[in-house]
Amino acid sequence: METRSARVRAYAKINLSLKVLGKRADGFHELRTVFQTISLADTLDIAFAPGRGLSIELDDPMRLDDNLVTRAARLFAERFKVRGSLRMKLAKRIPSGAGMGGGSSDAAAVLLALPALTGRRAELHEIMELGGSLGSDVAFFAAGGAALGIGRGEELYPLPEPKPLPVLVLAPAIHVSTPEAYRALGRGALTYSAEPHKLNTFQSFVWTPGFDSGSENDFEAAVFRLHPELERWLRKLERSGARVARLSGSGAALFGVFPNQAKLQGALPRFRSESLTVFSTRMLTRRQYRARWSASLREHAFEGTWPPQSRHLK
Ligand code: C5P
Repeated sequence: METRSARVRAYAKINLSLKVLGKRADGFHELRTVFQTISLADTLDIAFAPGRGLSIELDDPMRLDDNLVTRAARLFAERFKVRGSLRMKLAKRIPSGAGMGGGSSDAAAVLLALPALTGRRAELHEIMELGGSLGSDVAFFAAGGAALGIGRGEELYPLPEPKPLPVLVLAPAIHVSTPEAYRALGRGALTYSAEPHKLNTFQSFVWTPGFDSGSENDFEAAVFRLHPELERWLRKLERSGARVARLSGSGAALFGVFPNQAKLQGALPRFRSESLTVFSTRMLTRRQYRARWSASLREHAFEGTWPPQSRHLK
Protein backbone atom coordinates (compact mmCIF):
# COMPACT_ATOMS: atom_id res chain seq x y z
CA MET A 1 0.00 0.00 0.00
CA GLU A 2 1.07 3.57 -0.62
CA THR A 3 2.82 5.81 1.90
CA ARG A 4 0.56 8.36 3.56
CA SER A 5 2.15 11.58 4.66
CA ALA A 6 1.30 14.95 6.16
CA ARG A 7 2.96 18.06 7.48
CA VAL A 8 1.34 19.18 10.73
CA ARG A 9 2.03 21.97 13.21
CA ALA A 10 2.45 21.49 16.93
CA TYR A 11 1.36 24.76 18.54
CA ALA A 12 2.68 26.24 21.79
CA LYS A 13 0.62 27.18 24.84
CA ILE A 14 0.71 29.87 27.46
CA ASN A 15 -0.87 29.69 30.91
CA LEU A 16 -3.09 32.75 31.27
CA SER A 17 -3.25 31.94 34.98
CA LEU A 18 -1.68 29.16 37.06
CA LYS A 19 -2.28 28.23 40.68
CA VAL A 20 -0.44 25.42 42.47
CA LEU A 21 -2.60 24.10 45.29
CA GLY A 22 -0.32 21.55 46.96
CA LYS A 23 1.63 18.33 46.59
CA ARG A 24 -0.42 15.17 46.18
CA ALA A 25 0.28 11.67 47.48
CA ASP A 26 1.61 10.65 44.01
CA GLY A 27 4.26 13.41 44.11
CA PHE A 28 2.56 15.60 41.51
CA HIS A 29 1.07 18.98 42.34
CA GLU A 30 -2.63 19.77 42.18
CA LEU A 31 -3.18 22.61 39.70
CA ARG A 32 -5.78 25.08 38.56
CA THR A 33 -4.73 26.64 35.30
CA VAL A 34 -6.10 28.34 32.19
CA PHE A 35 -4.31 27.06 29.09
CA GLN A 36 -4.40 28.96 25.81
CA THR A 37 -2.96 27.84 22.46
CA ILE A 38 -0.95 30.38 20.44
CA SER A 39 0.22 30.48 16.83
CA LEU A 40 3.94 29.77 17.54
CA ALA A 41 4.54 26.19 16.34
CA ASP A 42 6.95 23.36 15.61
CA THR A 43 6.59 21.52 12.30
CA LEU A 44 6.27 17.74 12.17
CA ASP A 45 6.52 15.82 8.90
CA ILE A 46 5.07 12.40 9.33
CA ALA A 47 4.89 9.49 6.84
CA PHE A 48 3.36 6.09 7.38
CA ALA A 49 3.61 2.99 5.18
CA PRO A 50 1.70 -0.10 6.34
CA GLY A 51 3.83 -3.23 6.52
CA ARG A 52 5.11 -6.00 8.74
CA GLY A 53 6.63 -5.28 12.12
CA LEU A 54 7.03 -1.76 13.40
CA SER A 55 9.78 0.71 12.72
CA ILE A 56 9.78 4.25 14.05
CA GLU A 57 12.35 6.80 12.92
CA LEU A 58 12.68 10.38 14.01
CA ASP A 59 14.91 13.00 12.48
CA ASP A 60 15.19 15.35 15.44
CA PRO A 61 17.69 18.20 15.63
CA MET A 62 17.56 18.09 19.46
CA ARG A 63 18.47 14.38 19.61
CA LEU A 64 16.80 13.82 22.96
CA ASP A 65 17.06 10.18 24.02
CA ASP A 66 13.58 9.75 25.38
CA ASN A 67 11.99 12.09 22.90
CA LEU A 68 8.29 12.36 23.62
CA VAL A 69 7.55 12.15 19.89
CA THR A 70 8.97 8.63 19.55
CA ARG A 71 7.33 7.57 22.80
CA ALA A 72 3.95 8.89 21.64
CA ALA A 73 4.27 7.00 18.34
CA ARG A 74 5.23 3.75 20.07
CA LEU A 75 2.40 4.09 22.56
CA PHE A 76 -0.15 4.72 19.80
CA ALA A 77 1.13 1.82 17.69
CA GLU A 78 0.90 -0.58 20.64
CA ARG A 79 -2.52 0.58 21.73
CA PHE A 80 -4.02 0.49 18.20
CA LYS A 81 -1.99 -2.47 16.89
CA VAL A 82 -0.37 -0.52 14.07
CA ARG A 83 2.20 -2.33 11.90
CA GLY A 84 4.42 -0.63 9.37
CA SER A 85 7.06 2.01 9.02
CA LEU A 86 6.73 5.45 10.48
CA ARG A 87 9.16 8.22 9.54
CA MET A 88 9.02 11.59 11.23
CA LYS A 89 10.97 14.81 11.00
CA LEU A 90 10.73 17.55 13.58
CA ALA A 91 11.62 21.20 13.01
CA LYS A 92 11.68 23.04 16.34
CA ARG A 93 10.67 26.66 16.80
CA ILE A 94 9.12 26.55 20.26
CA PRO A 95 11.94 27.12 22.75
CA SER A 96 12.46 24.19 25.13
CA GLY A 97 12.63 24.50 28.89
CA ALA A 98 10.40 27.54 28.44
CA GLY A 99 7.05 26.48 29.90
CA MET A 100 5.39 26.66 26.49
CA GLY A 101 4.58 22.96 26.17
CA GLY A 102 6.81 22.39 23.12
CA GLY A 103 7.69 18.74 23.77
CA SER A 104 4.15 17.98 24.94
CA SER A 105 2.63 19.55 21.85
CA ASP A 106 4.95 17.56 19.55
CA ALA A 107 3.77 14.36 21.28
CA ALA A 108 0.12 15.39 20.99
CA ALA A 109 0.63 16.16 17.28
CA VAL A 110 1.70 12.54 16.77
CA LEU A 111 -1.38 11.28 18.63
CA LEU A 112 -3.69 13.54 16.57
CA ALA A 113 -2.13 12.72 13.18
CA LEU A 114 -1.64 8.96 13.53
CA PRO A 115 -5.30 7.90 13.59
CA ALA A 116 -5.83 9.72 10.27
CA LEU A 117 -2.69 8.28 8.65
CA THR A 118 -3.01 4.71 9.95
CA GLY A 119 -6.75 4.34 9.47
CA ARG A 120 -7.58 3.84 13.14
CA ARG A 121 -10.55 5.28 14.98
CA ALA A 122 -9.43 7.00 18.17
CA GLU A 123 -11.86 8.83 20.43
CA LEU A 124 -10.91 12.08 22.14
CA HIS A 125 -10.81 10.46 25.58
CA GLU A 126 -8.41 7.77 24.26
CA ILE A 127 -6.03 10.38 22.85
CA MET A 128 -6.24 12.36 26.08
CA GLU A 129 -5.58 9.24 28.13
CA LEU A 130 -2.51 8.29 26.05
CA GLY A 131 -1.36 11.92 26.22
CA GLY A 132 -1.83 12.12 29.98
CA SER A 133 0.42 9.08 30.42
CA LEU A 134 3.22 10.83 28.47
CA GLY A 135 3.19 14.14 30.36
CA SER A 136 0.90 16.49 32.24
CA ASP A 137 0.46 18.99 29.36
CA VAL A 138 0.00 16.58 26.44
CA ALA A 139 -3.75 16.08 26.84
CA PHE A 140 -4.39 19.82 26.53
CA PHE A 141 -3.10 19.83 22.95
CA ALA A 142 -5.69 17.21 22.04
CA ALA A 143 -8.26 19.93 22.84
CA GLY A 144 -6.73 23.32 21.97
CA GLY A 145 -8.13 26.84 22.43
CA ALA A 146 -8.83 28.02 25.97
CA ALA A 147 -9.23 25.30 28.59
CA LEU A 148 -9.37 24.92 32.33
CA GLY A 149 -6.80 22.34 33.49
CA ILE A 150 -7.17 20.70 36.89
CA GLY A 151 -5.43 17.78 38.61
CA ARG A 152 -1.93 17.49 37.07
CA GLY A 153 -3.30 19.67 34.27
CA GLU A 154 -4.48 16.61 32.36
CA GLU A 155 -8.15 16.94 33.35
CA LEU A 156 -9.56 19.54 30.97
CA TYR A 157 -12.74 21.49 30.46
CA PRO A 158 -13.44 23.98 27.67
CA LEU A 159 -13.67 27.67 28.55
CA PRO A 160 -15.36 30.47 26.62
CA GLU A 161 -12.86 31.72 24.08
CA PRO A 162 -11.31 35.11 24.66
CA LYS A 163 -10.86 37.35 21.61
CA PRO A 164 -7.71 36.00 19.90
CA LEU A 165 -5.34 38.83 20.82
CA PRO A 166 -1.70 39.32 19.81
CA VAL A 167 0.84 37.79 22.18
CA LEU A 168 4.48 38.79 22.48
CA VAL A 169 6.65 35.92 23.73
CA LEU A 170 10.08 36.58 25.26
CA ALA A 171 12.31 33.53 25.48
CA PRO A 172 15.44 34.25 27.50
CA ALA A 173 18.54 32.06 27.18
CA ILE A 174 17.60 30.46 30.50
CA HIS A 175 16.13 26.99 30.92
CA VAL A 176 14.02 26.23 33.96
CA SER A 177 13.60 22.53 34.68
CA THR A 178 9.96 21.82 35.62
CA PRO A 179 10.71 19.50 38.60
CA GLU A 180 13.22 22.08 39.92
CA ALA A 181 10.64 24.86 39.65
CA TYR A 182 8.17 22.74 41.65
CA ARG A 183 10.86 22.05 44.27
CA ALA A 184 11.65 25.77 44.49
CA LEU A 185 8.04 26.57 45.46
CA GLY A 186 8.12 27.25 49.17
CA ARG A 187 5.07 26.24 51.17
CA GLY A 188 4.07 29.89 51.33
CA ALA A 189 3.82 30.02 47.52
CA LEU A 190 1.15 27.31 47.39
CA THR A 191 -2.38 28.53 47.05
CA TYR A 192 -3.85 26.35 49.82
CA SER A 193 -1.09 26.88 52.36
CA ALA A 194 -2.01 30.27 53.76
CA GLU A 195 -5.76 30.40 53.36
CA PRO A 196 -8.17 28.47 51.18
CA HIS A 197 -9.75 31.73 50.02
CA LYS A 198 -6.70 32.47 47.88
CA LEU A 199 -8.33 30.27 45.26
CA ASN A 200 -10.95 32.98 44.94
CA THR A 201 -8.55 35.08 42.89
CA PHE A 202 -8.37 32.23 40.37
CA GLN A 203 -12.14 31.90 40.33
CA SER A 204 -12.66 35.59 39.75
CA PHE A 205 -10.07 35.48 36.94
CA VAL A 206 -11.92 32.65 35.19
CA TRP A 207 -15.22 34.52 35.53
CA THR A 208 -13.78 37.75 34.08
CA PRO A 209 -14.86 38.30 30.46
CA GLY A 210 -11.84 37.94 28.18
CA PHE A 211 -9.63 36.87 31.16
CA ASP A 212 -8.13 40.31 31.12
CA SER A 213 -7.65 41.00 34.80
CA GLY A 214 -6.53 39.18 37.93
CA SER A 215 -4.25 36.59 36.31
CA GLU A 216 -1.55 35.04 38.52
CA ASN A 217 1.22 32.48 38.30
CA ASP A 218 2.34 30.88 41.56
CA PHE A 219 5.76 30.03 40.08
CA GLU A 220 6.75 33.66 39.56
CA ALA A 221 8.05 34.46 43.05
CA ALA A 222 10.24 31.34 43.21
CA VAL A 223 11.50 31.51 39.61
CA PHE A 224 12.15 35.28 39.82
CA ARG A 225 14.22 34.69 42.97
CA LEU A 226 16.43 32.31 40.94
CA HIS A 227 16.51 34.58 37.85
CA PRO A 228 15.84 38.24 38.78
CA GLU A 229 16.29 39.40 35.17
CA LEU A 230 13.01 37.63 34.31
CA GLU A 231 11.09 39.91 36.64
CA ARG A 232 12.69 42.95 35.01
CA TRP A 233 11.51 41.77 31.56
CA LEU A 234 8.04 41.11 32.94
CA ARG A 235 7.75 44.63 34.37
CA LYS A 236 8.94 46.00 31.04
CA LEU A 237 6.16 44.08 29.26
CA GLU A 238 3.66 45.67 31.65
CA ARG A 239 5.09 49.14 31.08
CA SER A 240 4.98 48.57 27.31
CA GLY A 241 1.21 48.20 27.23
CA ALA A 242 0.64 44.46 27.76
CA ARG A 243 -2.81 43.86 29.21
CA VAL A 244 -1.62 40.64 30.87
CA ALA A 245 2.09 39.88 31.36
CA ARG A 246 3.14 36.62 32.99
CA LEU A 247 5.67 33.83 33.23
CA SER A 248 4.40 30.88 31.15
CA GLY A 249 4.08 27.61 33.08
CA SER A 250 7.18 27.19 35.21
CA GLY A 251 9.17 29.43 32.83
CA ALA A 252 11.49 30.68 31.67
CA ALA A 253 9.46 32.22 28.80
CA LEU A 254 7.39 35.32 29.50
CA PHE A 255 4.43 36.52 27.51
CA GLY A 256 2.49 39.73 27.11
CA VAL A 257 -1.06 39.89 25.73
CA PHE A 258 -1.58 43.13 23.80
CA PRO A 259 -4.92 44.81 23.01
CA ASN A 260 -4.06 45.04 19.30
CA GLN A 261 -1.30 44.38 16.75
CA ALA A 262 -0.22 48.04 16.56
CA LYS A 263 0.51 48.15 20.31
CA LEU A 264 2.52 44.93 20.06
CA GLN A 265 4.52 46.28 17.11
CA GLY A 266 5.14 49.50 19.04
CA ALA A 267 6.51 47.52 21.99
CA LEU A 268 8.79 45.25 19.91
CA PRO A 269 11.88 47.56 19.70
CA ARG A 270 12.03 47.68 23.53
CA PHE A 271 12.84 43.98 23.62
CA ARG A 272 15.78 43.96 21.25
CA SER A 273 18.41 42.18 23.31
CA GLU A 274 21.04 39.52 22.77
CA SER A 275 19.71 37.64 25.77
CA LEU A 276 16.18 37.25 24.35
CA THR A 277 14.51 35.49 21.44
CA VAL A 278 11.28 37.35 20.68
CA PHE A 279 8.23 35.85 18.96
CA SER A 280 5.31 37.88 17.70
CA THR A 281 2.33 35.48 17.89
CA ARG A 282 -1.40 35.48 18.54
CA MET A 283 -3.87 33.37 20.46
CA LEU A 284 -5.44 30.51 18.54
CA THR A 285 -9.05 29.77 19.43
CA ARG A 286 -10.26 26.19 19.57
CA ARG A 287 -12.05 26.72 16.25
CA GLN A 288 -8.89 28.08 14.60
CA TYR A 289 -6.75 25.32 16.13
CA ARG A 290 -9.06 22.61 14.80
CA ALA A 291 -9.49 24.27 11.39
CA ARG A 292 -5.70 24.34 10.96
CA TRP A 293 -5.50 20.69 11.90
CA SER A 294 -8.28 19.82 9.47
CA ALA A 295 -6.48 21.71 6.70
CA SER A 296 -3.18 19.94 7.25
CA LEU A 297 -4.83 16.49 7.31
CA ARG A 298 -7.26 17.26 4.45
CA GLU A 299 -6.13 14.27 2.38
CA HIS A 300 -6.55 11.81 5.22
CA ALA A 301 -9.30 13.00 7.56
CA PHE A 302 -12.90 14.17 7.24
CA GLU A 303 -13.25 17.91 7.65
CA GLY A 304 -15.02 19.15 10.76
CA THR A 305 -14.36 15.99 12.80
CA TRP A 306 -12.53 16.15 16.11
CA PRO A 307 -10.23 14.47 16.78
CA PRO A 308 -9.57 14.21 13.01
CA GLN A 309 -11.33 11.03 11.80
CA SER A 310 -9.59 8.96 9.14
CA ARG A 311 -10.85 8.58 5.56
CA HIS A 312 -8.87 5.33 5.44
CA LEU A 313 -10.87 3.38 8.03
CA LYS A 314 -11.14 -0.30 7.13
O1 C5P B 1 4.14 15.54 33.66
P1 C5P B 1 5.43 16.19 33.32
O2 C5P B 1 6.41 15.26 32.68
O3 C5P B 1 5.27 17.46 32.57
O4 C5P B 1 6.06 16.63 34.72
C1 C5P B 1 7.42 16.85 34.91
C2 C5P B 1 7.68 16.96 36.42
O5 C5P B 1 7.08 18.15 36.94
C3 C5P B 1 7.06 15.85 37.25
O6 C5P B 1 7.93 14.75 37.34
C4 C5P B 1 6.86 16.52 38.60
O7 C5P B 1 8.08 16.59 39.30
C5 C5P B 1 6.52 17.94 38.22
N1 C5P B 1 5.05 18.17 38.17
C6 C5P B 1 4.34 18.30 39.36
N2 C5P B 1 2.99 18.56 39.32
C7 C5P B 1 2.34 18.69 38.12
C8 C5P B 1 3.05 18.57 36.91
C9 C5P B 1 4.41 18.32 36.97
O8 C5P B 1 4.91 18.19 40.45
N3 C5P B 1 1.03 18.95 38.12
